[in-house]
Amino acid sequence: MQELGEAQPLSAHEVEAIRADFPYLERPARDDRPLVYLDWAATAQKPATVIAAETDFYRRRNGAAGRSTYQLADEATQALEDARQAVAAFVGARGENLVFTRNATEALNLVALSIAHASLGRPSQRGGKPLSVAERCDPANRLSLGPGDEIVVTRAEHHANLVPWQELAARTGASLRWLELTWDGRLDPDTAEVINERTRVLALTHASNVTGALTPLDAFLARARQAEALVVLDTCQSAAHLPLDFKTLSARGVGAMVLSAHKMCGPTGIGALVATTELLEAMPPLLTGGSMIEMVTMESSTYMSGPARFEAGTQALAQAVGWQAAVAYLEQIGMQRLHDTEQVLLRQLLEGMDQVKGLRLIGPAGADDRLGVAAFTLKGVHPHDVGQVLDAQGVAVRTGHHCAQPAHQHFGVHASSRASFGPCTTPAEIDRFLEAVSSVRDYFGRRA
Ligand SMILES: Cc1ncc(COP(=O)(O)O)c(C=O)c1O
Repeated sequence: MQELGEAQPLSAHEVEAIRADFPYLERPARDDRPLVYLDWAATAQKPATVIAAETDFYRRRNGAAGRSTYQLADEATQALEDARQAVAAFVGARGENLVFTRNATEALNLVALSIAHASLGRPSQRGGKPLSVAERCDPANRLSLGPGDEIVVTRAEHHANLVPWQELAARTGASLRWLELTWDGRLDPDTAEVINERTRVLALTHASNVTGALTPLDAFLARARQAEALVVLDTCQSAAHLPLDFKTLSARGVGAMVLSAHKMCGPTGIGALVATTELLEAMPPLLTGGSMIEMVTMESSTYMSGPARFEAGTQALAQAVGWQAAVAYLEQIGMQRLHDTEQVLLRQLLEGMDQVKGLRLIGPAGADDRLGVAAFTLKGVHPHDVGQVLDAQGVAVRTGHHCAQPAHQHFGVHASSRASFGPCTTPAEIDRFLEAVSSVRDYFGRRA
C-alpha cells in the first residue's frame, strides 16, 4: 500500500459526473423508488465504458487468441496481453507476473493446490521431519509441505482464503494455525507469535469483508520473513478502494496477491493471481492442456514459462478487456481520491449508525485504518428481515455470513447485515440508508 497523502475527497459535482457513467442508476428499485446500492463489497456496479469494452470486443475484435495467425486472432492475442499489462500496472506489478484466473477464489486455490502438487511424495523423503529455514530456501523444497510444517491464516478470512488452506493442511499433513481478532474485530498483533520458524505459508486478507478493518501488515510480515514463509495476500476488498503497489508489497515479503475483477467495477468471470517470478517458476501448473505447452509427444509434454503456464484453455478474453477498461476508469478518478471520499462517507455512516437504537456494529467503531464496509446487527431482528425491510425502501445491502463464518463466530452471531460503498455512493444515499435502518425495529414492533 502506498503512503496516503493529504485528503482530497471528490466534490459533489465530481461524484454526480461519476454517477452519470453508471447505467444501473437508470433503473428504479421496488415501487419506483430510487435505488441505493450499498453492496459494492460483494460485487461492484459497472460503468458504461466497461460494458462497452466487452461488447466492442465481441462486435469487432473476437478471435482465437494465441492460436492463429490471421489478423483477428492476432488482435485478440494482443488484447489479452494489453489487458494483462494494464491490470498488472494498476496494482504496481508487471504483466509477466499476472496470471488470469476465473475469480479470486480460483487464484487462491491455484496457489494452494500447486503447493499440494509440489508436496506430493516429498514429506516421506525427508522422514517426516520439517525442513530447516535454510533448507526451505532451496528451490526444490520451496513449495514442499509436510508434517511439522505450519500454515497460518487468520480469523478474518473470507472462506475463499481459508478453505483452500484447510485442504492443503489435510493433504500434506501440515498444521493449520491462525491469527485471532481483537474484541472489536481487528487482527490482533498480540497473536503474531503463531508465525514462527515452522510457518511455511501465511495467507491473510488485506481488508476484512465483514469489518472493513485493514490488516496491520508490518507486525505479521516481519515474522513471516524471518521464517522465509510464503505470504499470500487477499486484496479483493482493498484493490478497488486504495492505491496498491505489488512492488512495495513484494519487497516487504509478499509472494502473491489475488484480485477479483467484479469487485473493481470490472466483469464477472475473471480474477488474477499476481505473484513474484520466483513463485511462478516454482509452482507446478494445476490445469494442463492447450495454450500452456511448448512441445507435446505421445509420452510427455513441456510447459511454457510465465503466466501462460497457468492459463490452460481459452481465456476470458472479453472479460479481460472489460477489466482493462475498469482499471482505466478507476485510475482516471484516482485511487487516492476515491479512498479519501469513502473515508468521509464512512465517518458519516459510523456516526449515524451509532445513533440507531439496538444497532450493534460488527467491527471497529472508528473510521481509521478501515474501509467503507460496515456489518451490523439490530437487536431482536434477523439480518435477513433487516435486508428485506431495507429492500422494500430501495436500499440494497448484503445479509448473511458474507462467506466469513469464523469472523461472525468471534462476535457470537451467525449472520449480519452489511453496507458497503463504491464510487457512486453519496452522502444522501447514506442518509437514506440510515433512515431505513432506523425504521426497521419499529416495523417489527421492537421497543427494548
Ligand atoms: C475478502 C474476499 N476474498 C475473496 C473473495 C472471493 O472473490 P471471488 O468471488 O472473486 O472469488 C471475496 C468475495 O467476496 C472477498 O470479499
